[in-house]
Amino acid sequence: MKRVRKAVIPAAGLGTRFLPATKAIPKEMLPIVDKPIIQYVVEEAVQSGLEDVCFVTSQGKSAIEDHFDYDYQFATVLAEQGKTELLQIVREISQMIVISSMRQKKPMGLGHAVLVTEPFVGDEPFGVFLGDDIIASKKPVMRQLLEIFLERQASVLAVLEVPGEAVSRYGVVSVEPTGDSQGRLFRITDLVEKPSPDQAPSNLAIIGRYLLTPRVFPALQNTPPGKGGEIQLTDGLRRLLTKEPVYAYRFEGTRYDAGNKLEYLKATVEFALQRDDVADAFRSYLQQLEL
Ligand code: UTP
Repeated sequence: MKRVRKAVIPAAGLGTRFLPATKAIPKEMLPIVDKPIIQYVVEEAVQSGLEDVCFVTSQGKSAIEDHFDYDYQFATVLAEQGKTELLQIVREISQMIVISSMRQKKPMGLGHAVLVTEPFVGDEPFGVFLGDDIIASKKPVMRQLLEIFLERQASVLAVLEVPGEAVSRYGVVSVEPTGDSQGRLFRITDLVEKPSPDQAPSNLAIIGRYLLTPRVFPALQNTPPGKGGEIQLTDGLRRLLTKEPVYAYRFEGTRYDAGNKLEYLKATVEFALQRDDVADAFRSYLQQLEL
C-alpha cells in the first residue's frame, strides 16, 4: 500500500470572472482578509499530512511560487526593523512544505492541468486541490478523503449537495450507496460534466478536492477535449471508472468557491468575523450598516 504524500494544486486558469483584478495578479493570490486564497489551500494540504506540493502554473503566475519562496532581502529588512512577528509569519510560509511547480502552457482544462503533473506524481496516489476552493472544516477535507482511501484503496472525490439549478456549474456524479453508517460514502457509477438540471443524475456535485490513484494519468491521456473544448477531469475520471472503482464522499465542512465573486465576498466576511485582530470592530461595523 502506497502512502499519500503528494499534492497537486492546479492554478493555471485565466481567472476571467475576476477581471480586471486578475489581469496581472493570479486569482489564487487574491487575499481573504490578509492571506492569499492559495495559502489556505496549502495549509489544508499540510494539515492533512501531505509533504510535497506541486503547483500547476502558467505565464504571469510566478507570484504563486514567489509567495512560498524565502525572500532573503525582505526578511533582512524586517529583521533590521525589529519586526520579529512579521518575520516569523514570512518564514513560516516558506517553511510550510516542499514546493515545486510545473507549467501548463495553455489553459486546456483541469484534466490537462492534472496530466502535466505526471512526472511529479509518478506511480503514487495523490491529492488534487483546486487553487481557488477554500473549505473550512474541523477535520481538513483532504484528511477525510485520506481516511476513505486507506479503507478502500481507491480514488475518492469530495462531493457537495447543491440545489437543482446549480448542478449545471459542476461535474455531477451518479452513485449507489455503500451502506456506510453515516450515509456519506457512495460508489460512483457515472459522472457528467455540467449537466442541465433535467439531465443531472443526482445533486451531488464534485468540488475541488480529489484523492486519485496514478491510473488516472493513462485515463487522461486518452481523454479528448469535452465541454468548452477543454480536457475535463470529469471525463478522465469517467474513463478511470471503467478500470477501477471510484468513490464519492459527502465531506463535512463549508466550501467557498473563491473564484466566484459572491462566494469570495462571503468568505471574506466570515473569515474576518473569526479573526481576533479585526472581528469585534468588523462586527460593530456590519451591525451599524443600514441594509
Ligand atoms: P476555474 O474554471 O474555476 O478557473 O478552474 P479559471 O478558468 O481560472 O476561472 P474563470 O472561469 O476564467 O474565472 C478551477 C481551477 O483549476 C485551474 C484554475 O486555475 C483554478 O484554480 N485550472 C483551470 C488550470 O490550472 N488549468 C486550466 O486549464 C483550467
